[in-house]
Amino acid sequence: MFKKSVSFLADCLLILYIVACGTCKVNVIRGDIDHQDVYLNATERAKNNVMMTCISRSLSNRLILDI
Ligand code: FES
Repeated sequence: MFKKSVSFLADCLLILYIVACGTCKVNVIRGDIDHQDVYLNATERAKNNVMMTCISRSLSNRLILDI
């Protein structure tokens, strides 16, 4: 298995769970997302095609991002 670390931009105070900026939003090509953000609405989350990389994670063994 090949793993690679990638850095993403993150510019909000999401750590405080009060503000979300959207800077880290990335398109997802394949995989299941564990949405932990407060930025996306329920409809956007259900589409399973974007994620906020500052806080959300993968539910599947492999998550392919369009970066
Ligand atoms: S860095 Fe602001 S929502 Fe992720």
